[in-house]
Amino acid sequence: MDKFIIAGNGPLNGTVAAAGAKNAALPILCAALLSDEPLTVSNCPRLWDIGTTKKLLAQMGVTVAQAAPHTVVVDAKTITTHIAPYELVRTMRASILVLGPLVAARGEAHVSLPGGCAIGARPVDLHLMGLKAMGAQITLDGGFVHAKCAKLKGARIVFDTVTVTGTENLMMAATLADGETVLENAAREPEVVDLARCLKAMGAKIEGEGTTTIRIQGVTRLHAATHAVLPDRIETGTFLAAAAATRGKVRVTNTDPALLDAVLVKLQQAGAKVSTGTDFIEVDMQGRRPLAVNIHTMPHPGFPTDMQAQFMALNCLAEGVSVIKETIFENRYMHAHELLRLGADIRIDGHTAIVTGKERLTAAPIMATDLRASAALVMAALCADGETVIDRVYHMDRGYEDIEGKFASLGAQIKRVGKQFG
Ligand code: UD1
Repeated sequence: MDKFIIAGNGPLNGTVAAAGAKNAALPILCAALLSDEPLTVSNCPRLWDIGTTKKLLAQMGVTVAQAAPHTVVVDAKTITTHIAPYELVRTMRASILVLGPLVAARGEAHVSLPGGCAIGARPVDLHLMGLKAMGAQITLDGGFVHAKCAKLKGARIVFDTVTVTGTENLMMAATLADGETVLENAAREPEVVDLARCLKAMGAKIEGEGTTTIRIQGVTRLHAATHAVLPDRIETGTFLAAAAATRGKVRVTNTDPALLDAVLVKLQQAGAKVSTGTDFIEVDMQGRRPLAVNIHTMPHPGFPTDMQAQFMALNCLAEGVSVIKETIFENRYMHAHELLRLGADIRIDGHTAIVTGKERLTAAPIMATDLRASAALVMAALCADGETVIDRVYHMDRGYEDIEGKFASLGAQIKRVGKQFG
């Protein structure tokens, strides 16, 4: 298992380019299952979860080709099975995104249930409820969801909780259903909008993406298309938050400021000078210590839960006391226990964390517990006196492309070592 060794050093400085959004690329690759013609996906990030999705599709007999370093071509014409096995699904919950497309296009799906995960129970009941409303027969057996329907029918589906992948799964399924599907209380995340753009390029009829009501008119078939994935707003936000925590100056390019409104407001409240252009964002702390900022996670356009850990790290180093409220997932404060090992002052009471900032943290051996938490730990380690060893960095590799290379290019002293080094 790889580890990072990070020496707490000075401010981060420089320019780094954002990759394509993992959370958009995952459903988009799965959308290829809806057609018998190739889907060409560019700006596709090179990271583990994308590799897992490619493996998942390939083991179904789908042709998956890496046409260029960031371009993947997926052709489902060669599909041989509609089974998504436990070995792959258990490593990535988002594998459930094959369910809707498989039932819609192939009439049947056998998808292993993702099960619990480190950041809470995360059920898929709303995905199943929606497919049932569209006429699918759903049975749960041997840890698998079996879904069957010769032809899905349009339906009005009201989500009682905002779910990102649930909205995506049902939007994909509805593209090939008979008649109109209306998704109410739909997720408004930019990644849902990007998926809709891709589906439309494939011939789908969708309106209202980016609002709480999405209308999909089913069509008989989808066709070949080319789609460029939107920039990763969470990766972008991670580098900007790291700039703020280290009192540095960082420009993230190949990104889109419109995707990060709630995060940029918080960076400004933290004392950062934020400048934006059409495709870049720059944070300049002008050498100052960040100010504590309160955080309340919400579905988009609120503050994203995927940036909560990074802002907790920032608050650990900020001047003042902050209150963080996590409203999307239970059990998403595991990083707090690791931050405590670096000397942070955090008190947790249910879904609320109260953080009192410290001037510096102190290095210690720590462990990454989930994807975004690991980014927060890197940020904290960069502001800790001494050498911090972070174990289990595979969590980070799941969702960030060349993370240590990018941090190093900003001046971070970070190196990866394998298990053989202890
Ligand atoms: C997606 C993102 C993840 C992000 C999360 C919230 C992907 C691949 N992952 O995850 O990075 O942290 O959105 O922005 O896009 N819920 C139910 N029943 C369901 C589905 C969800 O109760 O059937 C609940 C969940 O337990 C959670 C809330 O709804 O409390 C939101 O979860 P959801 O939006 O579905 O998260 P994901 O789509 O899994």
